[in-house]
Amino acid sequence: LCFLFCALTKCVECSSEASELADIEWDNLGFGLLPTDYMYMMKCSQGGNFSKGELQRFGNIELNPSAGVLNYGQGLFEGLKAYRKEDGNILLFRPEENALRMRQGAERMCMPAPTVDQFVEAVKETVLANKRWVPPPGKGSLYIRPLLMGSGAVLGLAPAPEYTFLIYVSPVGNYFKEGVAPINLIVEHELHRATPGGTGGVKTIGNYAAVLKAQSAAKAKGYSDVLYLDCVHKKYLEEVSSCNIFVVKGNVISTPAIKGTILPGITRKSIIDVARSQGIQKFLDINDSGIKIRKDFLQEPYGSKFSCLIMENVYYLVSTACGCCRANVNNSFGVSCLMFFLMKVEERFVPVDELLDADEVFCTGTAVVVSPVGSITYKGKRVSYGVDGFGAVAQQLYSVLTRLQMGLIDDKMNWTVEL
Ligand code: COI
Repeated sequence: LCFLFCALTKCVECSSEASELADIEWDNLGFGLLPTDYMYMMKCSQGGNFSKGELQRFGNIELNPSAGVLNYGQGLFEGLKAYRKEDGNILLFRPEENALRMRQGAERMCMPAPTVDQFVEAVKETVLANKRWVPPPGKGSLYIRPLLMGSGAVLGLAPAPEYTFLIYVSPVGNYFKEGVAPINLIVEHELHRATPGGTGGVKTIGNYAAVLKAQSAAKAKGYSDVLYLDCVHKKYLEEVSSCNIFVVKGNVISTPAIKGTILPGITRKSIIDVARSQGIQKFLDINDSGIKIRKDFLQEPYGSKFSCLIMENVYYLVSTACGCCRANVNNSFGVSCLMFFLMKVEERFVPVDELLDADEVFCTGTAVVVSPVGSITYKGKRVSYGVDGFGAVAQQLYSVLTRLQMGLIDDKMNWTVEL
């Protein structure tokens, strides 16, 4: 009887719809919209506060043709993910960070925004209502797309009189068609994504429309995406259309500093924190021709076989096989001697020239997670970073981040929220 009542009243908590796994092909998820069961909606007027939101069936929404978002682009979006754990429970990754970023963006775009609690509660409710669309462990994630828009009618340019906060979700797999294989980027030096004093640092919808022209042209030439330069000097790296960028050289991981024209990515911030706190390492093989990266030594469980002492810039590799050997750049121990560096992270201006002799380049974002870059083309010159997968540093960062997100390792950072 209870089941019948729930089915008739579409009770989200206990209808069978909420508990089973949706009947779709889970093995080949890409990054396209798969409509799910419910979306969340909450409205408020200009100068007012958001109050009671509610779930409703996923579907088209009604907007006045004169809505602020349609006419003047008064809109923001967010992106976050939910993962299904082996025990069936669901994990969200840092949802309060998205809530805070939406609030900062709303301030820039003259919009009221949900409080952090309202945002996080709405995300939880939406994910639980669409639980059957969260992919099984290892098959992908549920992408959560919160929107904030001026939904009231305006004709003269002004903030809209009414706002809508909406959340919809879709199960997703890899963002790029390359999967986790390296992507190929082209540097755009004429069109720009953002300007100083503009809105490049907030997640407003117009930032993404602005990159479509360069992105379409790049894709037509076979590139995966576009890397933008700053518009003043046309020299410093900014970001890729949908993600942040990192460049690895020696023992330094560099990423463009946040200075108003770059989106403060939550994955970017998490990767920086992971790199700084987890002691990301790079093994180097020393031989006469210089220093080469030995990726084969990065396979686990290297951690249990080797450890390293660093004293006054001399690296001692301690291995269960050969005891302790001292390594130095003069190769006094021959090619079999290894040393590894602990990586440092720098947030700074990164000149485009640094791409020429980088060891690795990778992108980060909620949608792209950590994506290795296989090549970058700049003014007709192509630089390659290895076509066979992740570089040593990106591999470790990807591994720590995704295992954290999926609940496979202890969450010492307190980043995940279990539903
Ligand atoms: C995300 O990574 O969540 C984004 O918002 C990028 C989007 C273009 C897919």
